[in-house]
Amino acid sequence: MADVVGKNTGAMAVPSEAEVAGRVETIMSGMSLKEKIGQLTQISGAPFFPGPEPAEVIRKGGAGSVLWLNDTQQFNALQKIAVEESPSKIPLLFALDVIHGYRTIFPVPLAMASSWDPSVAERAQAVAAREARAAGLHWTFGPMLDIARDARWGRIVEGAGEDPCLGAAMAAAQVRGFQGPSVGTPDHVVACAKHFAGYGAADGGRDYDPVYLPESRLRNVYFPPFQAAVKAGVGTFMSAYMDLNDVPASGNRFLLSDVLRGEWGFKGFVVSDAMAVGNLVIEGFARDGRDAALRALRAGLDMDMASGTYPQHLAGLVEDGTLKLTDIEAAVRRILSIKVRMGLFEQPYADESKLAQVVAMPEHRKEARLAAQRSMVLLRNEGRLLPLSNSLKNVAVIGPVADSMEATEGSWMVFGHTPAAVTVIEGMRARLSGAKVAYAPGPEIRRDIASFFDDMLPGVNQKPGQTPEQAEAAFQTAVDTARNADLVVLVLGEEANMAGEAASRASLNLPGRQEELLKAVVALGKPVVLVLLNGRPLSIVWAAENVPAILEAWEPGSEGGNAVADILFGVANPGGKLPVTFPRKAGHAPLYYARDLTHSPEDGPMYRSRYWDGPTTPLYPFGFGLSYTTFSITNLKVTEPQVKLGNSVAVTADVTNTGMLAGDEVVQLYIHQKAGSDSRPRRELKGFERLTLQPGETKTVTFQLGPAELGYWSTNAGKWLQEAEAFDVWVGADSTATLCAEFAVVA
Ligand code: NOJ
Repeated sequence: MADVVGKNTGAMAVPSEAEVAGRVETIMSGMSLKEKIGQLTQISGAPFFPGPEPAEVIRKGGAGSVLWLNDTQQFNALQKIAVEESPSKIPLLFALDVIHGYRTIFPVPLAMASSWDPSVAERAQAVAAREARAAGLHWTFGPMLDIARDARWGRIVEGAGEDPCLGAAMAAAQVRGFQGPSVGTPDHVVACAKHFAGYGAADGGRDYDPVYLPESRLRNVYFPPFQAAVKAGVGTFMSAYMDLNDVPASGNRFLLSDVLRGEWGFKGFVVSDAMAVGNLVIEGFARDGRDAALRALRAGLDMDMASGTYPQHLAGLVEDGTLKLTDIEAAVRRILSIKVRMGLFEQPYADESKLAQVVAMPEHRKEARLAAQRSMVLLRNEGRLLPLSNSLKNVAVIGPVADSMEATEGSWMVFGHTPAAVTVIEGMRARLSGAKVAYAPGPEIRRDIASFFDDMLPGVNQKPGQTPEQAEAAFQTAVDTARNADLVVLVLGEEANMAGEAASRASLNLPGRQEELLKAVVALGKPVVLVLLNGRPLSIVWAAENVPAILEAWEPGSEGGNAVADILFGVANPGGKLPVTFPRKAGHAPLYYARDLTHSPEDGPMYRSRYWDGPTTPLYPFGFGLSYTTFSITNLKVTEPQVKLGNSVAVTADVTNTGMLAGDEVVQLYIHQKAGSDSRPRRELKGFERLTLQPGETKTVTFQLGPAELGYWSTNAGKWLQEAEAFDVWVGADSTATLCAEFAVVA
């Protein structure tokens, strides 16, 4: 399936920077101020969003881009108005949130990060791009690169978890997948690194709430995935919604100009998040719309997503001399450059027959199934209950998400998906075709408070709920169904609308009566397997002690049910690892492995735990995951125990498959700088590799640690440093690895 990941086939020559710049100047020379501001304006094409009629705005040259429209014929109709009737005939960029698949749905990004295999994410986004482009889309609002260390925050599902090293690898892979080798590669779309920056650190895990992050943490933890996206050539950035250290990200010159363009050399354009320019007023930052437009543009924000503030105020600001025309033109240039590089002037239209053929490509479903298999994490397997035997004759599948297409596909499905996802019950029935596979959902689960996304899918998320009597009857039916089976697969977790935007939670418990159902089923004394479909770490302390087998399947996408069955029956051996720490309780959030040491080690004899009402240690640590085989990691060697500042040191270790089955291990390298200008985290991931090993096979892994891995941004020095200090290095199978060596960086 080498063709999934884009190659620049030569179908279109990549224009040089000078050629692009020349063409942009020619286009701009004929444009009025009003049209220039039009290019900085993204309008909504969604019926649910009140606003001026798109065709009318486009005809007057008042829009550079349209979002939330998802219909090839409508794309072509609006494009025709843009290129034939608007004054300068500039094609539109059509944009949508294609986050983990367009028609073929892949595992949610948090799941893909659990593969610890960047090629999974790259291939997935290449398929997503191919389908989206075939539909006529040019631009996706992804990848989402926000580091998230608080499981209460709903959008943790959209990113790669808590770690900058894993996050940066997944960021670059997704940009390559969406865009191909460069912006303008045929069958690809422009990517958008979002939400710049710090959005995942919302106070209390409450979506949109303010964020306070010291510069050291921004630079060492929250920025690396964004910088990796720039290095991978990402075409666009999206500013975040919230206040960062009291300055809204969408009016934040430090972020959008000083760091992004000044330090990182980003050449693409920045779009705001939806309504964010206008919202600078609501946030108590800008005095009024005029002030908001002025401050956003001056901060470095090129395109106003849907708020209408730029088209309303920019012209006046230029006319009265507050803004210079050149300020506007700099932003227009950046947007037109992307349009030129995308080849929109040559080919503005979509082929209306293409999407159906592209979606039907069998390798898309194959890739989705493989991605889902590689994303799942085996959390527990007492007595080797898994893999299950194909000769099982009587199985019960129980739980509210076992047959939920929404929970299988995960968030961001408001814009469609087809063909339908295979749910876990369907996957189990397909696998056990000769056996009895009974199914009972148990009581339904639902949000206590609906979100505005639920209003868009009223039939799904706002159907009338069960009465307590109906829920009780469903509970009893589920327990009875389990009682009549030889083995029970419980499929519990969250519905799709319980994670994602506007989906933060104060609790991390299994929603509704699921834990009660779990306990009642386990009490029957049958073998029980728990499959989790969820978009965030959940507090499953009881299950972790009482359910022999637990598989974290996340929201696994179109082929999710088949992939769950593949794993449960050993057709695929699980090899995923957690990209986030699982806290025991919501009250422990934010909990992450890379914390600084303290004067009172919480696992020491004196202080025991940070809390008196339970251990602070995670339920499952970052990087954790089991396999049906076993591995040993030995023979850790550091090539040079003394390495000169600026040089690299190689670290090697041997990994052996000590079990009876072929399987994958993700070998992880962590470091700790023991002293220095600042305290450094007790451990930091600096390298990883997912390997496949046959039984008895040994492979040697080699990691290079150079200035990029050993340096950091210091609060005390106010700059990047690499210091001559001593380091510990661990190599192992998760963030609690004990195999350790030392080395020193010397001047
Ligand atoms: C708001 C979300 O925060 C962002 O991620 C998304 O891309 C835009 N809306 C557009 O749908």
